[in-house]
Amino acid sequence: MRVLLTGGMGFIGSHTAVVLQEAGHEPVLYDNLSNADLGVAKRIAAITGKTPKFIEGDIRDEERLERALRDESIEAVIHFAGLKAVGESVVKPLEYYDNNLIGTIRLLEAMKKTGVRRLIFSSSSTVYGTPKRLPLHESDPTGEATNPYGRTKLQIEEILSDLCRAAPDWSAICLRYFNPIGAHPSGLIGEDPNGIPNNLLPYVARVANGRLPCLNVFGGDYETPDGTGVRDYIHVMDLARGHAAALPYAMSHTGWKAVNLGCGRGYSVLEVVKAFEKASGRKVPLKIGPRRAGDIAANWCDPTLAKELFGWEAKLGIDDMCRDAWRFEEKRAEELKAQSNQS
Ligand code: WQD
Repeated sequence: MRVLLTGGMGFIGSHTAVVLQEAGHEPVLYDNLSNADLGVAKRIAAITGKTPKFIEGDIRDEERLERALRDESIEAVIHFAGLKAVGESVVKPLEYYDNNLIGTIRLLEAMKKTGVRRLIFSSSSTVYGTPKRLPLHESDPTGEATNPYGRTKLQIEEILSDLCRAAPDWSAICLRYFNPIGAHPSGLIGEDPNGIPNNLLPYVARVANGRLPCLNVFGGDYETPDGTGVRDYIHVMDLARGHAAALPYAMSHTGWKAVNLGCGRGYSVLEVVKAFEKASGRKVPLKIGPRRAGDIAANWCDPTLAKELFGWEAKLGIDDMCRDAWRFEEKRAEELKAQSNQS
């Protein structure tokens, strides 16, 4: 199948492109490179033996999208593109609404004009806000996002739900990701944020490698077994396979669906650090400090709907996630060193 991946050069998009290519699909990557670099296409080719088609473009550029959908004979879209830094969204809300909301509406218009009616959307566990019970089920209430980033995810889910109600030939699957971490086992692609990482795993990896001095643990007084925050971490390769598994469902069903993608169990910050130390053989110095604004104590999901609908379940555990994140970090640090020696 020919599938357009908006944000296809990013962390989750690039891993999904690998899985789709390996399953015989033809992903077309559409990305404005605001948070990814061109080298990703070559790395995908090094893994799969085939360079994916890449179109540089912004999701707010409806004409360019329309052309891409038409010229590439696209049958379905997986929509990853969007800004995703929680803290930044509080400081720059208009950029978030412009990129994420307006961008999605432009994409939907382009799909409408070109007759493409199948969409898989990168949603997030953040749509649940503070859980009232655990594990989280898709039928649990949404609507309490604590920041503009989270609100755009929820608003896009609602727009898609309205669209499917109004136009019954559409299919829109909202995949609610829990905490994606890890990297491709080759170490060639992974999560490589610019500047100081906001998320736990890239931060821990850089501390383990001596690129950052110490992990600040955000809160040691939560009502969790060891007092630190608990999350449902999922290997990015499992997550990527979740998209490939959702594709046949989207092609054969119409209507709106929200589906959790997680492992169904939580790990605390300290448990993740311990697993990372084991995987890397390095010590991760840490300090327990104050809570981070907007954080919740714990979340993890019930992933059974994904199994029922798509036949998908996560296969990789926390040790696999840490091992692959470490391999990527080591390779990345070597590359950076080689680059700085050259210049
Ligand atoms: C995990 C745990 C922190 C950094 C966010 C978004 C979510 C999704 C993924 C995507 C928490 C603790 C973290 C650090 C720490 N969005 N932590 N020190 O906040 O669960 O989810 O990212 O793109 O929508 O909300 O992920 O990795 O930031 O934090 O102690 O330096 O690690 O408090 O308990 P989070 P995270």
